[in-house]
Amino acid sequence: MRILFIGAGKYQLPGILKAKEMGIYTIAIDGDPNAIGLKKADESAVIDLLNLEKCLEFAKSKQIDGVLTVAADIIVPTVAYISEKLKLPGIKYETALISTNKYKQRERMKNASISCPHFRMIAKEEEIESINSEFSFPIIVKPVDSAGSRGVSYVSNSKLLKEAYLKAKGFSRSGNVIVEEFIQGFEISIEAFSYENQISILALSKKERTSPPNMLDISVTFPADISETIQKKAIEIAKRTINAVGIDFAVVHMEAIVTPTEDVVPVEIAARGPGFKVFTDIIPNVTGIDVLRQLINLSLGKPVNFEKTKNLASTIIFLDSKEGIVKSIKNIEKIRSKSEISEFELYITVGDRTNNLESGSDRVGHIIVYGKSPKETLKIAHDAKNMVEIEVE
Ligand SMILES: Nc1ncnc2c1ncn2[C@@H]1O[C@H](COP(=O)(O)OP(=O)(O)OP(=O)(O)O)[C@@H](O)[C@H]1O
Ligand SMILES: [Mg+2]
Repeated sequence: MRILFIGAGKYQLPGILKAKEMGIYTIAIDGDPNAIGLKKADESAVIDLLNLEKCLEFAKSKQIDGVLTVAADIIVPTVAYISEKLKLPGIKYETALISTNKYKQRERMKNASISCPHFRMIAKEEEIESINSEFSFPIIVKPVDSAGSRGVSYVSNSKLLKEAYLKAKGFSRSGNVIVEEFIQGFEISIEAFSYENQISILALSKKERTSPPNMLDISVTFPADISETIQKKAIEIAKRTINAVGIDFAVVHMEAIVTPTEDVVPVEIAARGPGFKVFTDIIPNVTGIDVLRQLINLSLGKPVNFEKTKNLASTIIFLDSKEGIVKSIKNIEKIRSKSEISEFELYITVGDRTNNLESGSDRVGHIIVYGKSPKETLKIAHDAKNMVEIEVE
């Protein structure tokens, strides 16, 4: 069998390696000639991944049996375009466009009577005038088609609106921006696979975020430490959202807010796995499900198996620092030597410049913990984080 990976960066690499291990002939393309997966695949090419026709032409010439991406949102439509044209397993191109557009998703959710904040699309600057009368602050302003929290702003009053709009527009490929009521509560994620009219829920996780306006992830813990009632609601809302958006053949990552009245309100849904190491490392480790293998099977139209064989807990916690030049970092080895700490990575070293935590790129490291219960792993993760002493000047 032959499989085409769209995207060959570091988060795609585990997928390429897994397919090779499964005895599948791997072909990878990426726009960046230095993408690490290009060297590891059996065959590769450098192609602009947003150029649909070029990617399709390449795919056609390679006699592939399946096409996929592991976790890159922007590439989901390219994958779907190829799978639709070549009649390979996957979601429709139209579904991919909806699932990568926060406004189109919201429309589908609203039409399916799924609980949503009040929302509106802004295509031109003049339209922001009406926001003041139509919404009550705080609101969230974000590009309809970006990812990684780029261009997302929490806006507490109308004076900050224009700046937030221009920032969101700057990160939007289409130039369109969505304005939403701010949903109060804590955030959870739901990971699932949708295939052949079935939806398998893999796992639920709970996040800690920094307070507005930045709202960056501090930690993500599996399984979500929430009541059974909220779990049931979250699963029901996830299934309804997956169906409303029409994701019928893909891995699904969904984020939602649990409100103080225990309503579960979707933030967004994506037809791909969660980023960072969550999909490739954490979910397999806590559930026992080899999700990469199953995603590859799904993309090749082969039988899939989502039976859980493990029930572990895990926390990934991100590290930050004060602004300055790093003078020393203490306790690294002490933390690494703890048996519960599975991974402790620092992205900085002595002499590097660090910033106060304002965006994802200000993070200076992460720690991954595995254990028996989410309470336990969350505590161990925070204790370890507190031990990291980064001195700056
Ligand atoms: N309407 C809202 N109410 C409350 N919080 C929100 C709302 N919209 C977004 N957020 C918060 O902002 C974060 C980023 O928004 P969103 O997920 O839509 O953007 P993104 O670019 O996909 O970011 P990421 O890749 O970090 O998930 C969400 O995870 C959530 O914490
Ligand atoms: Mg998101």
